[in-house]
Amino acid sequence: MNVRGWTRRIIRCLIPLCFLGTASWAVAQFGMPTKPAPKGPWDNKSLSPDQRADLVIGQMTLDEKIQLLHGMGWRALFGTPESGPAVRSLGGAGFIPGIPRLGIPDLQMSDAAVGVARGAQRSRYSTALPSAVAEAASWDPKIAYDYGALIGTELRDQGFNMSLGGGTNLTREPRDGRTFEYQGEDPILAGTMDGQMMKAEQAQHVIGDIKHYAVNDQENGRNFANSIISKRAMRETDLLAFRIGIRDSGVGAVMCSYNLINGTYACENDYTLHDVLDHDWDFKGFVVSDWGGTHSTVPAAKAGLDIEMPGNDYFDAPLKKAVQDGEISETQLNEMVHRVLRTEFATGIVDDPPHPMVVDVMHGFKVAQKVEEEGAVLLKNADHQLPLDADSIKSIAIIGGHADAGVLSGGGSGQVDPAGGNPVHSAGPGGLMALMREWVYHRSVPLEAIRDRAPHAKVEYDPGTDISAAAALAKSSDVAIVFGIQHESEGSDLPNLDLPNGQDALIDAVAAANPHTIVVLESGGAVTMPWLDHVSAVLESWYPGIRGAQAIAAILFGDVNPSGKLPITFPKSIAQLPHPVEASQPPGPLTPMPGMPMFKVNAKIFDVPYDEGLLVGYKWYDAKDKTPLFPFGYGLSYTTFAYSNLSVSPSDALEVSFDVRNTGDRAGQEIAEVYAGLPAGTDEPPRRLIGWQKVSLAPGESKHVTVHVEPLYLSIYDVDHDAWQLVPGEYKVWAGGSSRDLPLHASIRLGGQ
Ligand code: BGC
Repeated sequence: MNVRGWTRRIIRCLIPLCFLGTASWAVAQFGMPTKPAPKGPWDNKSLSPDQRADLVIGQMTLDEKIQLLHGMGWRALFGTPESGPAVRSLGGAGFIPGIPRLGIPDLQMSDAAVGVARGAQRSRYSTALPSAVAEAASWDPKIAYDYGALIGTELRDQGFNMSLGGGTNLTREPRDGRTFEYQGEDPILAGTMDGQMMKAEQAQHVIGDIKHYAVNDQENGRNFANSIISKRAMRETDLLAFRIGIRDSGVGAVMCSYNLINGTYACENDYTLHDVLDHDWDFKGFVVSDWGGTHSTVPAAKAGLDIEMPGNDYFDAPLKKAVQDGEISETQLNEMVHRVLRTEFATGIVDDPPHPMVVDVMHGFKVAQKVEEEGAVLLKNADHQLPLDADSIKSIAIIGGHADAGVLSGGGSGQVDPAGGNPVHSAGPGGLMALMREWVYHRSVPLEAIRDRAPHAKVEYDPGTDISAAAALAKSSDVAIVFGIQHESEGSDLPNLDLPNGQDALIDAVAAANPHTIVVLESGGAVTMPWLDHVSAVLESWYPGIRGAQAIAAILFGDVNPSGKLPITFPKSIAQLPHPVEASQPPGPLTPMPGMPMFKVNAKIFDVPYDEGLLVGYKWYDAKDKTPLFPFGYGLSYTTFAYSNLSVSPSDALEVSFDVRNTGDRAGQEIAEVYAGLPAGTDEPPRRLIGWQKVSLAPGESKHVTVHVEPLYLSIYDVDHDAWQLVPGEYKVWAGGSSRDLPLHASIRLGGQ
């Protein structure tokens, strides 16, 4: 079928969804979800979640057990009349009916990477937070916690009891279309931030979910990509991020990814699911497949998959048959059900179900703005171009990026629907697939926010479509602010890291017309900057969310001193990447997508060789002695900081302390970073991040910073012994303001010799 045919089909599917949304909402308003009446001894809260789960399992029929282990099918999601119990679905991405006679609630799942997704069909408002990469750029675990707490609260407000957020994949491939949903390229930073986010979501009595497990580091051909990676590299990079996130949060669910890992689908991979997650990490929650990521019944269940989503191709009738035939034992089935039920009790969704209410919009504004103020990264500020002085500037040219309408967001399943609709008309063909590609803006308007902040200046806008008109406006203004935008979405990767649609030429022309040109970037990740030497300031705002414009204005005018630092390296060009050409799908005959037969694809399984191994992000640039455009951990402030007095001493592994002083005349926050170099002969990258602290300092103030480093963060994965090892020997330690600005260094022997 051609594209138009599919589009028509998808639209036909979406129409009944509107009715489903209305019907289910009525049910939610008047009946569901309220706490089902106590049904048995498992209501005794003094029992452990495990005991309570087992008491329920003792009462369950085989059919009831199977019912908890799969979604209602794609039809249920698209709301056809034969949907049955799916009419109780709130219209989130996933729904599993509960067992009312036993007081087990429906699982109402919603995507929630940067806020509660897809509220439009229910006319519900959710806070569009800045992208997760912005939250990671704050390097502040408290910000990550606040981010997760807001998402958890708004999920509950809308009746959901399970989140599908928690993207923890490393930025190994900077063109990845989901970079904005993730937390950067370093496993300790990403794991720490995601752990706090998930912990906070679960504290609201919502099941958290960490995804996409694992090595799902590109979107191109994601259902067919076979990630080839060594065990050691996997353990020390992608898996380490998940391990830290899961450990720090006690998250209830792990979503296995679409791709294959070393030849086996992630959702039936015995190594990642059984050996690592279950055995080594002792994960007590359940594993849920990515949507359409289940490819078998017995191999998947035996490897450790507990729930097939969103459909029931493998874990409904085929699973029942496998149990009846003895291919899957009753004991194993009970273990799968146990994982689901113990998580429901442990996270509080049984004892404290959500009570729908109106989202606290004002609170959401505050959190969103704070995250952006802490996560925006000032990349260049020549001659103190910033902050701008609202009293002395007479005229400001605002150029491009639809800055007269709103700020850009990332697309795909994590899309938070824009309040009031997309203010920028999309010329797309419509339909579900088009939604993934549509550039959606939130109505936080930079032009208005800057006018508010500079009421005495003439602030004019030019869309940047006619370069000479834009340059003329810039020339006649005191200052020009160009908004450079780059859209990313789930489902495909960026072809390169350049600003699209002639924006580089626009910026060059504006910079040539006005020496006071400031570029504000709205992007999901790294962009190239051929014009960097010609502009005076650059602020990376990521996708800045529903208060993005206000936060950007606060930074530009100095109400907020920027303090974010890059959680990803910005290369000079894609030629610097480990793989300048991304592995992609070879053409094949048009075939149904596995698990999603309604989507036809033109691909075969293909290898993605992650032969850079341990050298993810900055570790690649350090090992290969390449100078990136901006290094990992980099970010400027309106003040300056000095480091002194490093001391390193062994504790359970290592304690690092030093002084940081604010040497400027403005209060500011510094993210003080600590790196280690492992002993010679370990074959490790030159440096790895092992800790950091964000310190607030008044002008002239000095603080003593102490960073405790746990053994894991200094260890290597010893494949021969399948264990982590702190290799005895000489460790180098550095401290400073970025991975390439480390004024303090020392050495210490660790490991008992
Ligand atoms: C995405 C997941 C998402 C799921 C449900 C999948 O295509 O990869 O991240 O949670 O859809 O919307």
